[in-house]
Amino acid sequence: PSPDSALYEIVVEKGKTAFIDGKEADTLGYNGTYLGPVIRLRRGETVEMNVANELTEFTTVHWHGLIVDGEDDGGPHHGIQPGERWAPVFTVDQGAATLWYHPHLMGNTSDQVYYGLAGLVYIDDEVSDSLGLPDEYGVDDIPLIVQDRSFRSDGSLDYRVNMMGVIPGDTLLVNGGIGQFFDVTTERLRIRILNGSNSENFTFSMSDGSIFHMIASDGGLLEEPYGTDGITLSPGERAEIVADFSGKAGKTVNLLAGNRNVLELRAASDIRDNGAVPERLVEIEEMGSPTGLKVRYFELQSMGISGAINGKTFDMERIDEKVRLNEPEVWIVTNPPGMMQSGGHPFHVHGVQFRILSRDGKLPGPAERGYKDTVFVNTGEEVRILIRFSKVGVFMYHCHILEHEDNGMMGQILVE
Ligand code: C2O
Ligand code: CU
Ligand code: CU
Repeated sequence: PSPDSALYEIVVEKGKTAFIDGKEADTLGYNGTYLGPVIRLRRGETVEMNVANELTEFTTVHWHGLIVDGEDDGGPHHGIQPGERWAPVFTVDQGAATLWYHPHLMGNTSDQVYYGLAGLVYIDDEVSDSLGLPDEYGVDDIPLIVQDRSFRSDGSLDYRVNMMGVIPGDTLLVNGGIGQFFDVTTERLRIRILNGSNSENFTFSMSDGSIFHMIASDGGLLEEPYGTDGITLSPGERAEIVADFSGKAGKTVNLLAGNRNVLELRAASDIRDNGAVPERLVEIEEMGSPTGLKVRYFELQSMGISGAINGKTFDMERIDEKVRLNEPEVWIVTNPPGMMQSGGHPFHVHGVQFRILSRDGKLPGPAERGYKDTVFVNTGEEVRILIRFSKVGVFMYHCHILEHEDNGMMGQILVE
């Protein structure tokens, strides 16, 4: 391939992974036994993803957060039969970001993700190159896929759901491992966090209560770093944070999810200065006035493990919304309380990065002022988003609680 085009070979395969005491569990992975490689893309490059399905079951590979035509998106219409290939070609048309990929087949996404099918996609561009952010992979820039899982005593994965919903896992897997640690050798450590759980929300913090800086949300860098001692991510959401270890040489700090350890960060006795985080990161386009724009309503409804959007469950043959290319719209997403209501829903839209106008009538907080593709809508909340599609085709919108998605809490948009 020429320098501005790249070919990625992705094999979806079965494997065995020993998570606990060398006991092997049946798992699924991309180019491996559990999870997949970080796929690194550059803005402007043309990419061919050559996906081979070596499973004995149907799958798809969806690029979550990537702005591509509907036919390259890997949703339920792009099934890959066992033994077959799917090879979309697209040009990377968005700024630096941490995205991800996972299966998206009708009715079975939650199982395949639970058993291991997920991976990260990084996009770099000239802006991110120029900021001097930590960007040495595995040294001062690390990926972190966080998932809750349950295990049986024989070491196998124990995926349990009942009518009321998903039973949260009692164990946290981090990049597919339990009890992970990282040797910190630099004063600044960039951590790209994906909440890769099927249904759990996580609030991340540092065990010493220290402030870290969030620098990116789902769709890319924020305008300015947001200093905070905690961030919450719902399933599918990402955040890039920069943790500061200056003055912490020789100390260990744990990254926590709630009160559970995610990653033990062991600072070396001699840590080097790898530069400061700039006070301004990127310029994000002004949203402009939303008055006069087309408005659509999305009412999220759930009952235990099943759910609907605007009273409808998913139908692959039905287009729910028709949207005009490049025309901004306001979407009002609500989650009305109800008797059997099962909590908040992460609302996700394919093929686009949107902006949050308001949450319950108030401006969004600093963590939600950048590009988003997934937004958590808690019980009783109303979230307004500004959205503009720049690619054509059929795209999904759905709840990213994967069991809700599988049980019909999903709809289709045709952009033309
Ligand atoms: Cu993360 Cu419809 O997907
Ligand atoms: Cu998606
Ligand atoms: Cu949901």
